[in-house]
Amino acid sequence: MVSEMTKELRIAMIGYGFMGKAHSNAYRQVGQFFPSRFQPVLQVLCGRDEAKAKAFAQAWGYKHVVTDWREVIARDDVDAVDICTPNNSHAEIAIAAAKAGKMVLCEKPLSMDVEEGERMVRAIESAGVANTVWYNYRRIPAVTMAKQLIGEGRLGKIFHFRAQFLQDWTISADLPQGGAGLWRLDASAAGSGVTGDLLAHCIDTAQWLNGPISRVVARTETFVKERVHILSGKMEPVGIDDACEFICDFENGSLGNFESTRYARGHKAKYSFEINGENASIAWDLHDLHRLEYFDHRDQSSLRGWRSIHVTDGDHPYMKQWWVPGLAIGYEHSFIHHVADFLKSLESGAPAHPTFREAHETGKVCAAILKSAKSERWELTGASEIR
Ligand SMILES: NC(=O)c1ccc[n+]([C@@H]2O[C@H](COP(=O)([O-])OP(=O)(O)OC[C@H]3O[C@@H](n4cnc5c(N)ncnc54)[C@H](O)[C@@H]3O)[C@@H](O)[C@H]2O)c1
Repeated sequence: MVSEMTKELRIAMIGYGFMGKAHSNAYRQVGQFFPSRFQPVLQVLCGRDEAKAKAFAQAWGYKHVVTDWREVIARDDVDAVDICTPNNSHAEIAIAAAKAGKMVLCEKPLSMDVEEGERMVRAIESAGVANTVWYNYRRIPAVTMAKQLIGEGRLGKIFHFRAQFLQDWTISADLPQGGAGLWRLDASAAGSGVTGDLLAHCIDTAQWLNGPISRVVARTETFVKERVHILSGKMEPVGIDDACEFICDFENGSLGNFESTRYARGHKAKYSFEINGENASIAWDLHDLHRLEYFDHRDQSSLRGWRSIHVTDGDHPYMKQWWVPGLAIGYEHSFIHHVADFLKSLESGAPAHPTFREAHETGKVCAAILKSAKSERWELTGASEIR
């Protein structure tokens, strides 16, 4: 029963894969832990395979199922469209949804390239609809706490930002590319390889914590040059970057050093970063996501050392809403926090970060990286608006 004070937010989810599940879980849980006037309602699930879509809808409690995303746009019982499809479909769906006056929550990377990203930002802003892009790692409490510590000026002037995102799942040359399961290896569906898939997360976090990246120089490599394409059954060239390393300048004068690969045997999703300032340093690792490592040079010298802060206390970001101090939460909670903040933004009328415009700044850095890997020169990013 919906009270007078409560407003339904009727969600249409496009796609029922990994992110379809992570987001559905977030919509279902958010109201129990982060009370809001806005109550997400799982209104429509869109998937092209009707049987699979129906099974997903039943498991997660969606009211309706459709097999073409255009039906979602035409419906008047949908307030927000959540895009959880491969990267090459984000723009078309987001622009149509915005033109129809729907709010849009889009998975990352926002777009396939800068031109597409610009069209998406224009469409969303001229429609004036609420929008956000799911750079969810910002909302892991320890990462949010890093933002707070930097905001309080504890690090002082920042000199270095380094990040890695390491995986090992594409080492086998027998792994095909394309189709429903392996679209990430097909450049026509993914846009790029580790740059858009993994480094985009690192860049979003980096620019959020440390401000805009002004220029980059990058090296990419495609270790397996040809793979069988699932749809054609033929051996086809591989167009994605399997690995990417880049160095960069931040506008604040600090230096960045980033690495991502799907060829780091033994690593499944090792996202980590370290920031060094004149007074203090911070380090974080997704494999131990509730810990923030902190070193403060201003501590008494005999006691000085790295502290490992278990970010689970009531005065840590988001944690008051969860269990008792000391009890950890996990990966899925970053999505719950993203929805909670989106609902808060609807209440206040403030933008929900990162907006399309802000996520496009990450897209610009990714584009400059790919350009630099080809030109073998420094490339300017043009990135500037980060919150
Ligand atoms: N924020 C994150 O941490 C994170 C993690 C993983 C993926 N992603 C992003 O989420 C998006 C989806 O990735 P995923 O891992 O969930 O992929 P997935 O392959 O698990 O799921 C994709 C879904 O989209 C559906 N789909 C494809 N084309 C469609 C269309 N035209 N109409 C309707 N449905 C369609 C597929 O059937 C599938 O259900 C990608 O953009 C990816 O980069 C983000």
